[in-house]
Amino acid sequence: MKTKRIVEILASEAVDTDVVVKGWVRTKRGNKNVAFIALNDGSCMRSIQIVVDLNKIPEETLKPVTTGACLRVDGRLVRSLGAGQGVEVQAERIEVYGTADPESYPLQKKGHSLEFLRDIAYLRPRTNTFGAVLRIRHAMAYAIHEYFNKNGFYYFHTPIITASDCEGAGAMFQVTTLDMANPPRTETGAVDYSKDFFGRSCNLTVSGQLEGELGALALGRIYTFGPTFRAENSNTPRHASEFWMIEPEAAFYELEDNMELAEDFLKYLINYALENCREDLEFMNKMWDPHLLERLEFVLKHDFKRLEYTEGIEILKASGRKFEFPCDWGCDLQSEHERYLVEEHFKRPVILINYPKEIKAFYMKQNDDGKTVRGMDVLFPGIGEIIGGSEREADYGKLRARVEELGMNERELWWYLDTRRWGSAPHSGFGLGFDRLLIFVTGLTNIRDVQPFPRTPQHADF
Ligand code: 4AD
Ligand code: MG
Repeated sequence: MKTKRIVEILASEAVDTDVVVKGWVRTKRGNKNVAFIALNDGSCMRSIQIVVDLNKIPEETLKPVTTGACLRVDGRLVRSLGAGQGVEVQAERIEVYGTADPESYPLQKKGHSLEFLRDIAYLRPRTNTFGAVLRIRHAMAYAIHEYFNKNGFYYFHTPIITASDCEGAGAMFQVTTLDMANPPRTETGAVDYSKDFFGRSCNLTVSGQLEGELGALALGRIYTFGPTFRAENSNTPRHASEFWMIEPEAAFYELEDNMELAEDFLKYLINYALENCREDLEFMNKMWDPHLLERLEFVLKHDFKRLEYTEGIEILKASGRKFEFPCDWGCDLQSEHERYLVEEHFKRPVILINYPKEIKAFYMKQNDDGKTVRGMDVLFPGIGEIIGGSEREADYGKLRARVEELGMNERELWWYLDTRRWGSAPHSGFGLGFDRLLIFVTGLTNIRDVQPFPRTPQHADF
């Protein structure tokens, strides 16, 4: 007989039929006549109740059925008389696939702290919380593809190994096959990368944007969705060394269109979660954040506040608030500033635009004032920056001048600059941090708790 997943069995009304269920034991209780096993297979939050008549199945069989063990149960699906469940399985036969010694298995019934679970990240997908987080994570990834597919954006694969530093921040992981202990040297004593695997120095991508722009200037609308790597030594709850980013890029989009896309996209994803992950969201709301559902609904219902950077600074300065990092025009906003604007001043998401050019990347479209660029950051409650993007500089002369001004390597960027020589077009795009989106949607507060296997400075376990 075909195994059914527990989510399907619980939803079905097929009582008084034979079923086979397979999963991991969450709990076992009972007396000398009957045992109740809660079995979970990860297909949904709920477990199914297995009722074992000890006159039919010997107690010996049940001995290895302890929390964490994996079972196959053949039995009959019946309506349940117990509270809190519609159906249960009366076991006819139990096979133990794998035992879990109660002396050593770390996930016993009691609730665990998120910190403890981080240390056993290889087992935490078996907990209710991580089951919920990982199902929501899947649903968001699916919804992202669905959104772009519906809106004429093509999924475009940009390289993970690259020689370019899109953000110009220099926080890159090097990729090399050279012998670190004894690298080849040039005449001047520098490491000779021409002898390296790719014949040049390469790194893991910090963003697929530059290549994404090439896609947009050919296909019209594209998006990337892939792993991204940053070697910045930021130990915050919102930074990971490896994270996933979604980067749409669209020809003929100006900054206004870009803002509209960002707002519509985020609302689509949040709405998708509310409609498709209800059970898991309710669990997260109950366990971790009593305002989660309220906050998700709130963001859906309100327009994002669009605000000039310059106005933002004025509001911060007039706030009378003592920030850890005082800010003035020209400063890069810290998370405390972003959160003040969002959580206390406007009390809704904010799209901040037209930043000083000095604090933004070289590719952003330059405004006529000579001081600012058409960048945009979307700021969210509890998070700060969730999206960073801009209209791109489409003018060859201006872009080249900026590259020169910043002392960047023009020869490395030749292919990017060429796009502005042949059929350049106004275009815009942004990057959404997938894991930051997950923080927002799950109500958790640390990026380490929304990634299956987080990579942060000094941590690359599992
Ligand atoms: O603002 P960022 O650095 O922008 C870019 O990389 C642009 N090339 C995007 C574009 O215009 N196509 O990063 C974009 C987003 C941030 O807003 C944040 O959500 C996320 O990526 N992000 C991180 N998420 C987790 N850990 C980190 N270390 C992150 N750095 C950025
Ligand atoms: Mg940014």
